[in-house]
Amino acid sequence: MTPEQQRHAEQLSFVASGAELEIGTPADCPLPLDRLISVRGDEPWVRERFDGGLTAQVYRVHADGRDWTLKRARARCKVQNLDGQTSFLNEIQRRADLRALKRDPSLAERLESIVDTRYASYRHGVLLSPWIDGKPIQAWSERQLLQLFDTLVALLLGGLFEWDLCPGNTLDDGQVRLFDFGYMYRFDPLRAFNSNGTATPQFHAAERFETRQYFAHLLVLETQGETSALAAFELEKRIAIEAYRQLRAALAKRGASGEVLHWLDSIGQQWTQGLKADREALYLKEAWRSHWLDLQDDLHGQTCTASTLARIDWLQATVEHRYRDLQAVAAVAPADLLLARLRKARRLAVRWQLASPRA
Ligand SMILES: Nc1ncnc2c1ncn2[C@@H]1O[C@H](COP(=O)(O)OP(=O)(O)OP(=O)(O)O)[C@@H](O)[C@H]1O
Ligand SMILES: [Mg+2]
Repeated sequence: MTPEQQRHAEQLSFVASGAELEIGTPADCPLPLDRLISVRGDEPWVRERFDGGLTAQVYRVHADGRDWTLKRARARCKVQNLDGQTSFLNEIQRRADLRALKRDPSLAERLESIVDTRYASYRHGVLLSPWIDGKPIQAWSERQLLQLFDTLVALLLGGLFEWDLCPGNTLDDGQVRLFDFGYMYRFDPLRAFNSNGTATPQFHAAERFETRQYFAHLLVLETQGETSALAAFELEKRIAIEAYRQLRAALAKRGASGEVLHWLDSIGQQWTQGLKADREALYLKEAWRSHWLDLQDDLHGQTCTASTLARIDWLQATVEHRYRDLQAVAAVAPADLLLARLRKARRLAVRWQLASPRA
């Protein structure tokens, strides 16, 4: 069994067992639990409701003199695959892990940007956290990138790999915050690259951020001119290089395998050399990878938005106008085959547009 199959099997058997997974006790809730469970959204203590979430219905509630985020599991997650169907359970499991990690003195400070859990119950489908009074991140500044990568390194050292760093899962209230852990999985950072063991070396923290979010931002910058997109790309890469250097040093100290250290070294070297030798080529390589993978993610989960269509436009234009450049940086299929796949992807993406856009 692959680690992924094992996780699915364990989570499905937990679901079937009827067992409860709770964080805290109902007495920790600022409102009686039965009220939270039966929330409709029109109660005077509900300040806002968010319908964009795919796994959960999210409410901003006011109680005990402050605001809270109440996440209620959807009867059926809008992501149409096994990871989606177990994502609420997964989130509560990871919040239990995070609660423990936040007590580890070596990581506590760096994990302050991870939202706390006041109370959670899998069987009641309830998750209560402090409200983050923040804004979605439109244009990533140096401060925001540094904070995000610092948090990501701490999570990796703590043995947690976050797959879904999409725009709807990051907020900034002066500090970049993470609060949605539906697709965060455990792994052994000393022996594995991510939660698939060593089977998928192409997936790592910086890649996840670039694929799920940063290149959608760079796509917007590209419309304002190549220079600003390239500068933003270089800034993010330099921060990622330094974060991976620190990660590598910490993992080496803890006795990581040669395979893991070598893998991290080679990623850092590719970036450093790419920035020095041909920044445009590195940009094209990472942009192609990001847009292509994110498109597959959206199609796989049947969770398409306007951003999915913008990515298809970029991929198609790149095949049509820059196929030779592309061949130089990526192992790609023949152009006519790629264009046929993209035509099919566009038909599906149009069919699977979500009623409510993902932030
Ligand atoms: N603690 C919080 N403070 C402020 N806003 C929050 C908080 N938690 C969630 N939100 C808001 O609710 C939205 C949906 O929340 P969240 O991402 O946790 O739900 P989800 O259903 O798991 O989402 P998805 O599956 O689409 O990633 C977020 O994009 C954010 O705008
Ligand atoms: Mg989310």
